[in-house]
Amino acid sequence: MMGHMTVVEDRETLLDVESDVLGERVASPKTVLMCRPEHFTVRYRINPWMEPANPTDTEVALRQWQTLYDTYRRLGYHIELIEPIPGLPDMVYAANGGFVLDGVAYGARFHYAERGPEGPAYAMWFAERGLEVVDPVSVNEGEGDFLKVGETIFAGTGFRSDAASHAELSRIYDREVVTLRLVDPSFYHLDTAFAVLDDAGGPASVAYLPRAFDGASRTLLEKRFPDAIHATDADAAVLGLNSFSDGRNVVIAARAETFARDLEARGYVPHGVDLSELLLGGGGVKCCTLELRW
Ligand code: ARG
Repeated sequence: MMGHMTVVEDRETLLDVESDVLGERVASPKTVLMCRPEHFTVRYRINPWMEPANPTDTEVALRQWQTLYDTYRRLGYHIELIEPIPGLPDMVYAANGGFVLDGVAYGARFHYAERGPEGPAYAMWFAERGLEVVDPVSVNEGEGDFLKVGETIFAGTGFRSDAASHAELSRIYDREVVTLRLVDPSFYHLDTAFAVLDDAGGPASVAYLPRAFDGASRTLLEKRFPDAIHATDADAAVLGLNSFSDGRNVVIAARAETFARDLEARGYVPHGVDLSELLLGGGGVKCCTLELRW
């Protein structure tokens, strides 16, 4: 076997090769951007999870968010922070701030005016860190709707990002972009209905909620990912799919119990985090996380 012939140059490579031989899943280092929910509240309604009449507790949101931050630290991720801006309560959902790949940031252009100013705020952060920033022409909500698996970018539409942004994506990154159409208003961003478990790709590299997609998208997903995990309604109800994986460790909603078992059955290691307060805004683990591939 080729793997046995490889000249191993450092210990990390050696560990990779060994775990590969053992069939274990291998974690790859991650760098993410997050935003403390200092100004989190729900005072408008732009998705079915949000109910401005219900009280929110910013202290609880901060405490819960901190447990996500600490979990990422424990897993060895590098975490960058963007300063929260007063008056932008949804800014904690960093995934929507843009899409970063190959050192290029494709800026976000929000569907709802309430979140509009977040686009330029995140774009400025990217530019200040030396990323090339592409100003968006089409409405798009960043990594909330764009997820990379292998060399393909899966792109959601139906509620937030315009299909035209998918063409923009493929022009910018010169990669295959596959459009997935969302049909259930509770799963309005792709990352609420589709989880990347191993961004190298493969038949069991994703999990999704079939009923959140139209027929054509479901057929496509079945063909591309024959061993995917199909989320249960109970897991979907706590935004269980809204998770973040390094290829081995998968950080998920603590209450997504079936999802946790399904992950273990496929060799992944689930780590549950309780973000119930942020669920009041319609977001979970992944929404709070923007991957920086720079
Ligand atoms: N309240 C926010 C909105 O409706 C939640 C965003 C969740 N983010 C995500 N990536 N799914 O826009």
